[in-house]
Amino acid sequence: MKLPFLALLPAVAVAACAEGLTAKTRNGTYLGRYLAEFDQELFLGIPFARSRVWRKPEPLTESWKGARSAEWNGAVCYPPDKLAAEVTNVTQVSEDCLNLNIVRPSRASLAKVESKDKLLPVAVWLYGGGFYDGFGADFNSNFSYVVQASVGQGMPIMAVTLNYRVGVLGFPGGKEAAAAGIANLGLKDQRQALRWIQENIAAFGGDPDKVTLWGQSAGATSVAAQILAYGGKSGESLFRGAIMISSSVGVVNTYRADDSRQVGNYAALLNHTGCLDAVTGDSLDCIRNTPVPELYEAGNKVGGVLTWYPATDDDFIAKPPTVQLLAGEFPRDLTLLSGTNSDEGFEYSESLTRGTPNGIQTEEQLRAGASALMPMARPETLDLVFRTYPVDGPRPPYAWSSPNPSFCDGLEAAGMK
Ligand SMILES: *[C@@H]1O[C@H](CO)[C@@H](O)[C@H](O)[C@H]1NC(C)=O
Ligand SMILES: *[C@@H]1O[C@H](CO)[C@@H](O)[C@H](O)[C@H]1NC(C)=O
Ligand SMILES: *[C@@H]1O[C@H](CO)[C@@H](O)[C@H](O)[C@H]1NC(C)=O
Ligand SMILES: *[C@@H]1O[C@H](CO)[C@@H](O)[C@H](O)[C@H]1NC(C)=O
Repeated sequence: MKLPFLALLPAVAVAACAEGLTAKTRNGTYLGRYLAEFDQELFLGIPFARSRVWRKPEPLTESWKGARSAEWNGAVCYPPDKLAAEVTNVTQVSEDCLNLNIVRPSRASLAKVESKDKLLPVAVWLYGGGFYDGFGADFNSNFSYVVQASVGQGMPIMAVTLNYRVGVLGFPGGKEAAAAGIANLGLKDQRQALRWIQENIAAFGGDPDKVTLWGQSAGATSVAAQILAYGGKSGESLFRGAIMISSSVGVVNTYRADDSRQVGNYAALLNHTGCLDAVTGDSLDCIRNTPVPELYEAGNKVGGVLTWYPATDDDFIAKPPTVQLLAGEFPRDLTLLSGTNSDEGFEYSESLTRGTPNGIQTEEQLRAGASALMPMARPETLDLVFRTYPVDGPRPPYAWSSPNPSFCDGLEAAGMK
């Protein structure tokens, strides 16, 4: 009696999966989860590439039978973020962290607003965090609310959030890294996710021709970098719209990979990982063989935020972004929305006032702080900034949206209007 019952079990399991919420991608099927409180369907932690330390993201070629679970968040990239992890039930930190999350309205809720056969526009979110922090499943990136609002407005969308590598694991500095094509790994991770979306999003009800890339802070810098990628001549059509909140390219220094600061960071990292004696060329391998928690700690010893950062590498970032923009080398078939979070600049006022204990009182002090933070900014550029945002002016125009003729004059003077 017992044997036939056991023999039935696998068949029952398969039937349960088949009846559940599934999406059939090119290489296999994923099982999602219904989120009752939002009437939404989630597919979480879907791998879009493999990542190994200081290697380019490797496309996945595996195919499988049966349904793989995509019910819960996957591993996040370094650094471990304890607080956010508690909120979002993410427990695993790994160098193999390239996975994405899909949030979509339920089929039933779509039937109320439009034909349920229609593919949805796709918002792809890139988190901020100074290329130093952040992950796709972070509470700040919770797209249940945006997707819910889109349904409420009768213009439903779906959303994708994704992990990309940051810090010393995502943006190795220096000549060796640039020569190996790994100086801008985090940006390459993002691009690999965009390719995965082109191949697979229709299986989840998304329209690959209606992808909008959307990011804030370093996420917005990333959006701009994706637009300008490979000299603006990648020939890839990965998204048709872009939203940049509180950043763009060229806002903070994009050093050349052979800049002395980059070279110095790399040398210091070799020192802290015990790789200083490795023969040139083998030093990359020495780092790759360093245990990841150790490498992460060594990266922090070299420096904090803005140390491991996108660099001009003659590859993904073909030339300094502002130079490329002024040369007009960017794709034109793109709709762009750009703005800032109100008062976000306050977050940076502390770093500007370092060394001036009573706070910034004069334009000279502000200029000194800004120059220290952005050594690559030309004096003429700083002149323009101070003309646009006078220190003793009326309430500063924090948001681009506020009526502010002097800001527009500034743009005009910069030839950007
Ligand atoms: C699926 O497999 C094919 C063939 O191996 C590969 O070219 C493709 O990139 C894979 N797609 C995904 C999303 O893994
Ligand atoms: C957290 O994730 C695990 C799977 O990794 C799941 O079994 C559990 O129910 C989740 N808990 C919450 C509160 O979401
Ligand atoms: C967004 O937050 C709500 C409330 O905490 C949670 O129930 C939901 O699962 C979250 N959505 C996503 C996509 O993580
Ligand atoms: C290596 O690091 C040590 C201590 O952190 C420092 O004293 C030494 O100067 C460094 N050596 C090089 C070559 O950077």
